[in-house]
Amino acid sequence: MRPTVAPFPSHRLRRLRKSEALRGLTRENTLTAEDLIWPIFIREGEGVVEPVPSMPGVSRLSVDRAVEAAREAQELGIPAICLFPYTDPSLKTETCEEAWNPDNISNRTIRAIKQAVPDIAVMTDIALDPYNANGHDGIVRDGVIVNDETVEALVRMALAQAEAGADILGPSDMMDGRIGAMRRALEAAGHCNVAILSYSAKYASAFYGPFRDAVGASGALTGDKKTYQMDPANSDEALRLIERDLMEGADMVMVKPGMPYLDICRRVKDEFAVPTYAYQVSGEYAMLQSAVANGWLDGEKVMMESLLAFKRAGCDGILTYFAPAVARNLKKG
Ligand code: PBG
Repeated sequence: MRPTVAPFPSHRLRRLRKSEALRGLTRENTLTAEDLIWPIFIREGEGVVEPVPSMPGVSRLSVDRAVEAAREAQELGIPAICLFPYTDPSLKTETCEEAWNPDNISNRTIRAIKQAVPDIAVMTDIALDPYNANGHDGIVRDGVIVNDETVEALVRMALAQAEAGADILGPSDMMDGRIGAMRRALEAAGHCNVAILSYSAKYASAFYGPFRDAVGASGALTGDKKTYQMDPANSDEALRLIERDLMEGADMVMVKPGMPYLDICRRVKDEFAVPTYAYQVSGEYAMLQSAVANGWLDGEKVMMESLLAFKRAGCDGILTYFAPAVARNLKKG
């Protein structure tokens, strides 16, 4: 259905834009702190706040600082925090066992946050890249990322995270069959209320560069991720992936990256009407922050506008490194 526009001057569309009161009354979308998931990077140590050079304003935090971040998130009304580990290179192997170590940095952080700030939802990342000597999301054999064996490893990882108290699991690996396998394993282990937010439509994107620096995966990665992540040229394929993950038991779905893929967000929301999220990734953040640092863009304004765009595109929420800054900005009004 198309909105009706009578011929000028019966309709002057500027009438509804003439004051903040009328603009507010007719506004179609809003951004609130509740729409945000805050991704943070964690590492070993105590009292550590180690800046990530390619992501101005973002630091790797030790467990105690991550707990503080969770507390800050709660005070700001941010409902969820998402953990990404920076792993010491000495813990990376070809078989990736550190990924399902109940005492790895992620699982220790989950427990610490759930103990200190129980009301915040803790989301995790499920993929082998932080623990893989090859830097890939899956196990590599003779240069091939092997699917089914990787799924078994991912299921172990999922169970360890659920055991540690994670509320939302975020499989970002793009292997086939992993959602169903995780869902069955979670049910069997009594974790029937752990949600899965699947990175269903994740593209093989050049916008992940700064993230790979942050988790220390850039050096390790051999080749690219094109045999498992999506071709940026594709759109219909995203719908097939979303449908497949929903059928296998995903509760929420994600499109990633965000800003260059808002068309996909809109198609997904229109087609499936399920909880839909987008990830405004590290490269998008770095791109905006570098222009802001040069004085070429107004930081506050582009941050708010870029995130409102996700709401307009149909997203229910956004993973963004701007989360605390946005929430502070919303609070001050
Ligand atoms: C890895 C993973 C990546 C991101 C989230 N999980 C990088 C990749 O796939 O190489 C990217 C997030 C960002 O760029 O902010 N499983």
